[in-house]
Amino acid sequence: MRLELLLFLVSWLMVESAGAINGTETLPGCQQKCGNVEVPYPFGIGAKCSIATWANINCNTTFNPPKPFIGGLEVVQFSLDQVRIRNHVAVSCYNQFGNQTDQIFAWINLIGTPYTFSFTKNVVTVLGCDTTVLTRGSQDFNYTSGCISICDKREYVIDGTCSGLGCCETSIPKGMQEFYALVSSLFSHAKVWSFDPCGYAFLGEKDMYSFKASDFGYSNSSRLRDIPVVLNFAVGNQTCKHAKQNPATFACKDNSYCYDSVDGNGYLCSCRKGYEGNPYLKKSCQGLGFGFLFLLVGGSWLYFSIKKRKLIQLKEKFFQKNGGLLLKQQISSHEGGVELTKIFTAEELKLATNNYDQGRILGQGGYGTVYKGVLPDLRIVAIKKSKVVDKSQLSQFINEVVILTQINHRNVVKLLGCCLESELPLLVYEFVSNGTLSQLLQKKSGTMSSLSWEDRLRIGAEIAGAVSYLHSAASIPIIHRDVKSANILLDDNYIAKVADFGASRLNPLDESQISTLVQGTMGYLDPEYFHTGQLTEKSDVYSFGVVLAELLTGEKPLCFVRPIEQRNLATYFLLSMKEDSLFELLEAGIINEGKEEQVLAVAELAKRCLNLKGEERPSMKEVAAELEGLRGFVRHTWVQKINGESRIMGPENVDLYAIPSDAYDINGASGQYSLEKEMIRSMNVSR
Ligand SMILES: *[C@@H]1O[C@H](CO)[C@@H](O)[C@H](O)[C@H]1NC(C)=O
Ligand SMILES: *[C@@H]1O[C@H](CO)[C@@H](O)[C@H](O)[C@H]1NC(C)=O
Ligand SMILES: *[C@@H]1O[C@H](CO)[C@@H](O)[C@H](O)[C@H]1NC(C)=O
Ligand SMILES: *[C@@H]1O[C@H](CO)[C@@H](O)[C@H](O)[C@H]1NC(C)=O
Ligand SMILES: *[C@@H]1O[C@H](CO)[C@@H](O)[C@H](O)[C@H]1NC(C)=O
Ligand SMILES: *[C@@H]1O[C@H](CO)[C@@H](O)[C@H](O)[C@H]1NC(C)=O
Ligand SMILES: *[C@@H]1O[C@H](CO)[C@@H](O)[C@H](O)[C@H]1NC(C)=O
Repeated sequence: MRLELLLFLVSWLMVESAGAINGTETLPGCQQKCGNVEVPYPFGIGAKCSIATWANINCNTTFNPPKPFIGGLEVVQFSLDQVRIRNHVAVSCYNQFGNQTDQIFAWINLIGTPYTFSFTKNVVTVLGCDTTVLTRGSQDFNYTSGCISICDKREYVIDGTCSGLGCCETSIPKGMQEFYALVSSLFSHAKVWSFDPCGYAFLGEKDMYSFKASDFGYSNSSRLRDIPVVLNFAVGNQTCKHAKQNPATFACKDNSYCYDSVDGNGYLCSCRKGYEGNPYLKKSCQGLGFGFLFLLVGGSWLYFSIKKRKLIQLKEKFFQKNGGLLLKQQISSHEGGVELTKIFTAEELKLATNNYDQGRILGQGGYGTVYKGVLPDLRIVAIKKSKVVDKSQLSQFINEVVILTQINHRNVVKLLGCCLESELPLLVYEFVSNGTLSQLLQKKSGTMSSLSWEDRLRIGAEIAGAVSYLHSAASIPIIHRDVKSANILLDDNYIAKVADFGASRLNPLDESQISTLVQGTMGYLDPEYFHTGQLTEKSDVYSFGVVLAELLTGEKPLCFVRPIEQRNLATYFLLSMKEDSLFELLEAGIINEGKEEQVLAVAELAKRCLNLKGEERPSMKEVAAELEGLRGFVRHTWVQKINGESRIMGPENVDLYAIPSDAYDINGASGQYSLEKEMIRSMNVSR
């Protein structure tokens, strides 16, 4: 259907534009041709079709095919700056006795019209071996000129060249409007009659005539009659400068320019450079190659519209498959926040990641691959390309989008947007440049960790603040469910940002959310939650306890290189505290660097977080406050001891303001599995 339409348009345009480009257009409703001759404007057949009476063409239909005439002159071709007319041949013939048998003179008179003989394109040609020709011309003056050709023998005459032997040429003056030629003979052809009975003369277009001695014959003037005379013409009788002053009568239309005629009796018009068409008609001069342009544009349009349609269908399919509808639902059920999330197009993200260049990969994890991307506004982002999405992962994915859009906290990685049009859903995060806490802690391998005690304390406080915010300060309580050092990102200044909300839950008290599927990461999983399946905020507190233990010890949460009872860091840590051997476990240097009481306070806090009974664990808010307090203690604050527990007061530092998103994301290696043995062992050991 569309293809047919296009083909029609193209062919229509080819016809239209061909006429426009070769300039043969007429005024609307006017006859285009007289016989075989095109009659373009400013000429026209009939008074209303031409620019003026001098351009009014008389198409004489008594001829077959009909012939166009200007006055008495037959026109063989019209163009936009010249006219070619049939010439008039002057003849003089003799018989063998020297009597003149034919005498025809040639006379063309253009006086009183805007036409002149082109002095550059016409020449007077004289034929014969005993021929004299007188030409006369007039314009503002009278002049007479001529040419004589005498030769003795046929052999001297060479066909093809008008060299003076049997053929001579003479030019005409500029601006000539009347031509008269008379042929006569000096010796009445007496000596040459055998091969040359006639003499001829005509005014005609230069280089169009190829001389032949056989043209000397009696009736061979038809070949000569076919050489046209070129006439110049001018529109109006003023110079451009004057004509322009009267736009109503100025003949040069859109995209054309005016130039004075060579013969100085008026002006003409021409399409501007790069344009073709008829400069005397409105909107006729078009850009060159318009038809091709149209073809190109039309063709591309067709191609892309078909392709686009397919792409849109595909995108819609993906959008639905990727949970676009689910997201919409979620968005409508949780007002606000989501408007901040930009829905990126697949193209934008393809461009941003240089078509998912291998070199742009920041990390690969359980959920997918994270690429570094650069948005058109030069913002650096992390783009998470999800792995194969099955139904269960799908809801998690949407979950993460919805949760993150609710959150605006300096220690929570910022979700900038998502894209659901591509085959695999894509998430766009702020770029956090410095890797994960897990990487940083494990970087040591022999060398001392680069992370100072002060930084460890601050990072701990930041994480606690962020998780506490999730639990209480956010509009809807959120349980992260996967707090671990691998989900803590660090920016240039080692500011912590909690990431990977794939497993997080909104509204934990919702009955339906108490799922049979226990989710979390080995080594961080709350044993109580593992056994009961009852998810509370305290599960995050337990996981955070493990992170604190990591910060204190620099040990991996699970390490199978360690002896069996030490494999699980949480149990190992608790055991060490119980056996008063904590100092052996602590990261080397920490004690020297930090105040011993401070380190011990943090260890004590970690122990409370790791309590097997959720109820007895402190809330995240308390943890955060305590850590902030400890930090304040570094900076000269005070500690209060209550019931042997150090409850430390300090400024609550829950920052509800977002920082400008110039920072990254995620290397979310998260998993979901049950590891019953591990859990049971950890519980047994700690008991
Ligand atoms: C100009 O284009 C038309 C097609 O519209 C064609 O018929 C005509 O022969 C062309 N004239 C010249 C002088 O090329
Ligand atoms: C057409 O040409 C013929 C022959 O030359 C002439 O007799 C006739 O008057 C012309 N007709 C017009 C309308 O000029
Ligand atoms: C030819 O010319 C001669 C004089 O030169 C003349 O006597 C004769 O009558 C002429 N013949 C004809 C047919 O005109
Ligand atoms: C040119 O010659 C014609 C007649 O031969 C004459 O009537 C006219 O006045 C002349 N023009 C000039 C400018 O001399
Ligand atoms: C006229 O020209 C033709 C060839 O163009 C030639 O064969 C013929 O002889 C010529 N006629 C005369 C009388 O010279
Ligand atoms: C120039 O043309 C205008 C109108 O076309 C006419 O009135 C005027 O007489 C012409 N002038 C000359 C010198 O031909
Ligand atoms: C992390 O940031 C610190 C301080 O800006 C810098 O020295 C270090 O090279 C960064 N590490 C990485 C892995 O980017």
